[in-house]
Amino acid sequence: MSIQELAVEKRGEILEWLEGAAASSASRAELLQQTVDLIHGKLPTYNWVGFYMLDPADASMLELGPFAGAATPHTRIPVTEGICGAAVAQGETVVVDDVNADPRYLSCSIETKSEIVAPIRAHGEIIGEIDIDSHTAAAFGREDRVFVERCAEILGRYFEIVKESGRGARG
Ligand code: SME
Repeated sequence: MSIQELAVEKRGEILEWLEGAAASSASRAELLQQTVDLIHGKLPTYNWVGFYMLDPADASMLELGPFAGAATPHTRIPVTEGICGAAVAQGETVVVDDVNADPRYLSCSIETKSEIVAPIRAHGEIIGEIDIDSHTAAAFGREDRVFVERCAEILGRYFEIVKESGRGARG
């Protein structure tokens, strides 16, 4: 089986797990941490996987939530900055094949070559996003985008039904 075929199989397994976990998890902090750990652990080109959630006290600010991978200096990102801010401002997934060629990019590791950020919506409103970095250039193709957007959709639905407001980075 090729690496690409293996990745397709793993993405399917992750989505299956996430559907089940979102239906049964009581703690959103735990669900988010397990999600990033699983994605990071299973998909070798997904070298940093994390959540940025809009600050409930200041909707112009993204706060770092659970993540897997190296520590980042960007724990709070204004929605006017970075690839992360662009995904909120544009209201859609942003894929950057070569981060070093993108003036919006906020660097968190010199090893990062490409990035994908997909907004998470609850009740139609953006509440946060999934951010994934790769050490491989142009690592995120059509299938990756479909996968990351599906993760965001499942989590958005989860946030709609959990007791907490669904906002904030720390669950
Ligand atoms: N690269 C992001 C910043 C977050 S780190 O990748 C973890 C950006 O440009 O917004």
